[in-house]
Amino acid sequence: MKRLHSLHNLQAQIFLLIVICLFNYSSSAKIGENCGSCDPGLTCQTCPANGNTRPRCSRIQTSNPIKKVKGLAFNRYSWLTTHNSFALAGARSATGSIVIAPMNQEDTIVDQLKNGVRGFMLDMYDFNHDVWLCHSTRGQCFNFTSFQPALTALTNMRTFLDANPSEIITIFIEDYVKAPSGISKVIQASGLHKYMFPVSRLPKNGEDWPTVDDMIQKNQRFIAFGSKQAKEASEGIPYTWKYVVENQYGDEGMQDGVCPKRAESPPMDTKTRSLVLVNFFHNTPNRSQACADNSARLLNMLKTCHEASGNRWPNFIAVDYYLRSDGGGAAEAVDTANGHLTCGCDNIAYCKPNGTFGSCDVPPISPPPPAAEATPTGNQQSPDKNDKKNNAYIGRTANLMQSVVLILVSTTFLAWL
Ligand SMILES: *[C@@H]1O[C@H](CO)[C@@H](O)[C@H](O)[C@H]1NC(C)=O
Ligand SMILES: *[C@@H]1O[C@H](CO)[C@@H](O)[C@H](O)[C@H]1NC(C)=O
Ligand SMILES: *[C@@H]1O[C@H](CO)[C@@H](O)[C@H](O)[C@H]1NC(C)=O
Repeated sequence: MKRLHSLHNLQAQIFLLIVICLFNYSSSAKIGENCGSCDPGLTCQTCPANGNTRPRCSRIQTSNPIKKVKGLAFNRYSWLTTHNSFALAGARSATGSIVIAPMNQEDTIVDQLKNGVRGFMLDMYDFNHDVWLCHSTRGQCFNFTSFQPALTALTNMRTFLDANPSEIITIFIEDYVKAPSGISKVIQASGLHKYMFPVSRLPKNGEDWPTVDDMIQKNQRFIAFGSKQAKEASEGIPYTWKYVVENQYGDEGMQDGVCPKRAESPPMDTKTRSLVLVNFFHNTPNRSQACADNSARLLNMLKTCHEASGNRWPNFIAVDYYLRSDGGGAAEAVDTANGHLTCGCDNIAYCKPNGTFGSCDVPPISPPPPAAEATPTGNQQSPDKNDKKNNAYIGRTANLMQSVVLILVSTTFLAWL
C-alpha cells in the first residue's frame, strides 16, 4: 500500500513537471516583448527604420469596437482602413501578367478582414470588358498594372458579411470607370447590393449616423463611397466628400504638426460632414519605412488631425502595410481613436463596461512601448530604446524564475505528502 502510494506520488510529480514544462513552452511572448513566437493577434517583427532591430511581438489586429462599446452611432467608431487594399506585394495579376506597379499591402483582403480591417480603398478601372482593381496611371489599366477583377474582392466582402451578421464594411472607390453603371453592376453581381446602406439614409448635414445596431438590424452593413459626384444620382454611389472630410494623402500629408485637407475635401473642421478620414502613407509605398510610419508618427498625426478636425477623432485611419509597426501600430492607433470616440478614454481597452463617458479603467494591460519619439537617422540607438529591450528581457527572465520556483515548491510539497 505504501509502495503504491509513493509510486502515485512519483507519477504525480512527473506529470506536474511535464504540465509545467508544456505550459512554459507554449506560453508565448506578449506585446513589445522580444520573441520567437507571439500570442494570437501579434506577429514577431523588427523595425530597423526605427532602430528596433530585435524582433518583438507587434499587433496586427484591432479590437472590435462595437463588441466592446455597443450600440452607438456609426460615426462614433473608428475603423482600420487599408490604402490600395488589393495591391498585394508579390502578387501576380489575375490576367497572369507580372505586376509592375507600387504595392501597398502584404496580405489579402480576406486576411485583412480577419484582422479587423473594415475600410478598404479600392481603385476601380474599366478593363477587360469589366471593372478591375488596378494601380495605374491616367485612368487606364494594363495587364501589368491590374491586380484582380473588382468582383473577386467584392465577393470576398459579401461572403464575410454573410458569415458575420454584425459586421459593417466601408469601401472608398477611386473611380476611373466610364462604363455605364459599371460599378453598380459589379456591386450587384457580388451580391453586396442587398447590404447597401441607402443614400437616402446618409446624414446630409453633419448629423449622427444611425446606430450600428440599427444598421445591423436592417442589414445595411455595406457602405460604398465614390469619387465621382454624378454617380450619386445616377448609380446610388454616394460622393465621398459630401459625407467625409479627409486630409491630404501621400508625402504632403505626413508633415509633423499639420493636417491639411485633400483637394476634393471640404476643410477638415467642416461639421456638416459626419465622418473624418485620416490618410497616413507616402506617395511611394515602402514596406521598410511603414513600421516607423505606422507607430509613433501615426499616433502623433491622429492628435494633429483631431485638432484640425474641430476636435474630432478619425472614423477611418488609412495606411500602407498595416501589418507593419514597432509594437502597437495601426491597430493601436485605431483602438486609441475608438477609446476617445466611444467612452472618452485614451484607448478602447480602458472603457468600462456600460460606463459613463470619461470613466476609464486602469489599463488592464501595459500599453506597448512607445516608438522612438523622433525618426532616428542611421542606426544610433538611444538609451531609451535599450531600456525597453532590457525591460522586455527582465520580463522574460522573471517569468522563467517564477516557473522554476513553482516547480521547486510543487515537487517539495508532493514529496512531503
Ligand atoms: C493581357 O492578358 C490577357 C489574358 O489575361 C491576354 O489575353 C492578353 O494578350 C494580355 N495583353 C497583353 C498586351 O499582353
Ligand atoms: C524605404 O525605407 C527605408 C527605411 O526608412 C529606407 O532606407 C529606404 O531608402 C526606402 N526606400 C525607398 C525606395 O525610398
Ligand atoms: C451592460 O448593459 C447590458 C444591456 O443593458 C447588460 O445586458 C449587461 O449585463 C451590462 N453589463 C454590465 C457589465 O453591467
